[in-house]
Amino acid sequence: MPTRVPPDLNLSTLEAADREAAIPVIKDGFVGIYRWHAKRTLARVPVVRAAWLGTELVGVAMLERLVPEAGYVYYISVAASHRRRGIGAVLLDDALSRFRAEGVHVVYAAVESENSASLALFRSRGFRVVERKEPSYKEGGLGAWGLRSRMWVVSGEVLLGLRIAPGPMAPKSSGA
Ligand SMILES: CC(C)(COP(=O)(O)OP(=O)(O)OC[C@H]1O[C@@H](n2cnc3c(N)ncnc32)[C@H](O)[C@@H]1OP(=O)(O)O)[C@@H](O)C(=O)NCCC(=O)NCCS
Repeated sequence: MPTRVPPDLNLSTLEAADREAAIPVIKDGFVGIYRWHAKRTLARVPVVRAAWLGTELVGVAMLERLVPEAGYVYYISVAASHRRRGIGAVLLDDALSRFRAEGVHVVYAAVESENSASLALFRSRGFRVVERKEPSYKEGGLGAWGLRSRMWVVSGEVLLGLRIAPGPMAPKSSGA
């Protein structure tokens, strides 16, 4: 079923002082430890993007560039009453364009393996499951060597990844 994005949807960046506005959407999207962690992340993460319909905040995405080559989508949440209208996809596309513009090569997201809506959203943009033993993002794969501990991937979650820029640069010539 095709999604229909509301024509008056607007995106903005939420500065630290304004982030409380996203709490209701986080409460709508997460329970238990995830809600606790999402609220904590909201306060600390470098970039929070909000989707608005008029003065109503209807979606939020939390983003961080973990290292120059790797971006991470911590959480995306859309108000329950506004789901399946393409808002999550707009927020994810926005995150990917921002990371692309910053020169990021790979983007990661951790998703509960039972969360079919979230898995489908990320898969719709080309993300795939990252295997624990695959070559690292530095070698042209998606392996998140050295980054997993910073991504808070917990039991029951899978790590998803998407390459948005070509693989490793050609080795520098020694100059000899
Ligand atoms: C996951 C979530 C953000 C999706 O937001 P959304 O605005 O409803 O998603 P969209 O309407 O943009 O959907 C985009 C695509 O994702 C997939 N998708 C989204 N929700 C889906 C669902 N419930 N079932 C199956 N596929 C789904 C579809 O491929 C969809 O495209 P389509 O509608 O053309 O088929 C939303 O369900 C949510 O906030 N969930 C609670 C919080 C959460 O679990 N966040 C993700 C973990 S970080």
